[in-house]
Amino acid sequence: MKILITGTAGFIGYHLTQKLLKRGDTVVGIDNINDYYDVKLKHARLLDAGIKVSGMVYNKPVCSTKHPNYTFIKLDITDKENLQQQFQNYQFDAVCNLAAQAGVRYSLTNPDVYIDTNVKGFLNILECCRHFKINHLVYASSSSVYGLNKKMPFSEHNIADHPVSLYAASKKANEMMAHTYSHLFNLRTTGLRFFTVYGPWGRPDMALFIFTKAILEGRPIEVFNNGNMLRDFTYVDDIVEGITHVIDQPAETNFLWDAKDPDPATSSAPFRVFNIGRGAPVNLLDFVSEIEAQVNKKAIKTLMPMQDGDVAETCADVSNLDEMLNYKPQVSVHTGVERFIAWYKKYYHIKSTSPEPVLVH
Ligand SMILES: NC(=O)c1ccc[n+]([C@@H]2O[C@H](COP(=O)([O-])OP(=O)(O)OC[C@H]3O[C@@H](n4cnc5c(N)ncnc54)[C@H](O)[C@@H]3O)[C@@H](O)[C@H]2O)c1
Repeated sequence: MKILITGTAGFIGYHLTQKLLKRGDTVVGIDNINDYYDVKLKHARLLDAGIKVSGMVYNKPVCSTKHPNYTFIKLDITDKENLQQQFQNYQFDAVCNLAAQAGVRYSLTNPDVYIDTNVKGFLNILECCRHFKINHLVYASSSSVYGLNKKMPFSEHNIADHPVSLYAASKKANEMMAHTYSHLFNLRTTGLRFFTVYGPWGRPDMALFIFTKAILEGRPIEVFNNGNMLRDFTYVDDIVEGITHVIDQPAETNFLWDAKDPDPATSSAPFRVFNIGRGAPVNLLDFVSEIEAQVNKKAIKTLMPMQDGDVAETCADVSNLDEMLNYKPQVSVHTGVERFIAWYKKYYHIKSTSPEPVLVH
């Protein structure tokens, strides 16, 4: 297939690109390479896929030196005109939209970018998919859409209409917008609610990265809600495997869908949403212990209250994806953290560490 992936300089986009290239798909990646976090890491991910950023020109395709089937274009999804031009040039079979302003806490202080990229940018993606007759649009939603919902595990069949951050609201908006396009224009769409993704090449604004860095540097870590948090950490390879299963099996109309008892997970239109999570939440303090064990160094923990926009517990009901597409995430937190630490040490040239005493405030 010829697949457009947006957000390919990002964490999940990098891994998905590698996976699809390896199995022989033709990939066109786009990303605006913004500086929300360390741009060097984004450049390094691109370079690892054979894309050199030196001399790169906005909206001009760059061919990979490692993969003949990979082209990257530095492009902003809010730039409708150039986005349309690239859809016209390439005639994609499928589109996977991962480009977004991520981060729950950042959305409390920088709301505009969430509307610009996640809402207006996503509208541009929908419009291009509509006009260029894309067979299937897969897009990143988030577990954060469950918001105030406390019915565990989180199921796609339950209503998720109470977001607690603008980030979550923008992701929920994506699902609603996608449904409209599926209904009006018969565009096949699948929204994927990812649950706390972690792994090598991970995001510096996320817990595993922040904790590992601070522990190795002997700095305190902030543990929110006094550690009373359960997170359904999901290893990035599992996420990417799930996305691949979804790309290969486009959304279909659910002919059994009942408008009098509407299931939020499907529709009379070719629309669906899936959770992709491990379905096995881990206590935040146990997660920290796992990192401590693997870096052989104790954390200095500063216990903090709950943060605005955050939720205390997430847990994916993974039965829908398993039943529909026969896929279930596999990788344990122990193995996943081990692989992350190995990558982190290699990437940042860190040799060895020695145990330090623990201080709990
Ligand atoms: N990582 C997680 O735990 C997680 C959980 C739930 C949902 N998601 C969603 O999955 C997707 C990928 O997440 P990630 O963790 O890889 O994040 P990421 O920030 O590493 O990747 C997103 C990429 O999109 C690019 N981007 C942002 N705005 C853009 C724009 N206007 N035009 C073009 N490119 C733009 C960024 O430069 C970045 O490289 C996002 O949509 C995110 O909201 C991630």
